[in-house]
Amino acid sequence: MSAASTGGPRERRMFDPAAPLADAEIVVGVGGGIAAYKACELVRLFTKAGARVQVIMTKRATKFVGPLTFQALTGRMVFHDLFSLTQESEIGHIQVADRADLVVIAPATANVIARLAAGIADDALTAVCLATRSPVLLAPSMNVNMWQHPITQANLRRLVDVAGTFVVGPGDGFLACRWTGPGRLAEPADIAEAACRVLAPQDLAGKRLVITAGPTFEPLDPVRFLGNRSSGKMGYALAAAAARRGAAVTLVAGPTALPDPVGLDVVHVEDARAMEAALATHAWGADGVIMAAAIADFRPGTPSEKKLKRTEIGLAPVISLDANPDLLGGLGAERARRGSGPLLVGFAAETHDVVGYARAKLAAKQVDLMVANDVTAPDAGFAVDTNRVVLVEPGGDRELPLASKREVAHRILDRVVELLAARV
Ligand code: CTP
Repeated sequence: MSAASTGGPRERRMFDPAAPLADAEIVVGVGGGIAAYKACELVRLFTKAGARVQVIMTKRATKFVGPLTFQALTGRMVFHDLFSLTQESEIGHIQVADRADLVVIAPATANVIARLAAGIADDALTAVCLATRSPVLLAPSMNVNMWQHPITQANLRRLVDVAGTFVVGPGDGFLACRWTGPGRLAEPADIAEAACRVLAPQDLAGKRLVITAGPTFEPLDPVRFLGNRSSGKMGYALAAAAARRGAAVTLVAGPTALPDPVGLDVVHVEDARAMEAALATHAWGADGVIMAAAIADFRPGTPSEKKLKRTEIGLAPVISLDANPDLLGGLGAERARRGSGPLLVGFAAETHDVVGYARAKLAAKQVDLMVANDVTAPDAGFAVDTNRVVLVEPGGDRELPLASKREVAHRILDRVVELLAARV
């Protein structure tokens, strides 16, 4: 996708968020647990994204799902018997191990985890894991007691610490064994996302980013608040994209309906002053702060501790408001005072003269980049999944084409990567 240029920052190579899976050679190892059927969906997601998939099943996994299912989904023979003359000669565990860009094991049972941690290679899956140089991503799934058993936890720690193995999940919920708790296989979409993260270029590795998202709710009484229409989608998309590219992300989130993205720290706040406190804790140790939150500029002056009653407040109540601090402007001023501090990126949601107001805010708040968008456009702004933004910098403006918020997040981060590189 190309960016329409209006001068300013030069053209650059962009990171394609779907690229990590396209054309990747992925080994999907299926362990012998009831969640094995969910691996079918995972394989479908991988092949749909353009990956080539080689499935390896443990012997017990074949009791849950027939190898033919995976063969039909991948168009490749399934490898489940290391000592089968046909399978070993046609597939070959060393070739599979060498060719793999990534090995994903879903479900990773307690038994598979234990064998991997011990370096045992007594079947096709464990032999490939021991022979490969590619990253290995485990999606554990088992009974809650097996998961919480100190031996399972120690095995997993050993794999993570000694072998650099990646782990996604498990989730919490009702398990097939009728227990409730941790042990549920992560959702296939989350496993695919984690796989993308492992495969993605790590151009933000070693960087610490604080990203704010969502609205703030300013209390009027314990029941009511003043809020705004921000859904948090843009900020959440930025946080997930930055984490995928290797950043250590702290997401400071106002109230939203969105689930916490996997693999990053989320600090939930309600109002502007709580967001200010979270920024005071996290911003100054960060390389960059991206303020995608729609922070209320005003709050009810004296919120009531008890619910305001209709009969007590009269027929035409007046709410007096106090000004909230300008958090981004405060960071800009403090950075100017200190002479150093994080890269600062703001958002300007406008309804008219979009770039003009964004440029004024760029100067007033003393920041490096303002992302401007027209929130009245039907395909941009609040609650929709797409956005159309202009990057406004001291050196010029650059209009990005309409794209999904995920895509826009990556385009913004492309620029953040460059701006961070230019600072050192
Ligand atoms: N912002 C902030 N603190 C506030 C209000 C806004 O840090 N009290 C940040 C937002 O997160 C955003 C940027 O400042 O990154 C611009 O927000 P916006 O609401 O567009 O600007 P305001 O300064 O509030 O100006 P106005 O509402 O008059 O357009």
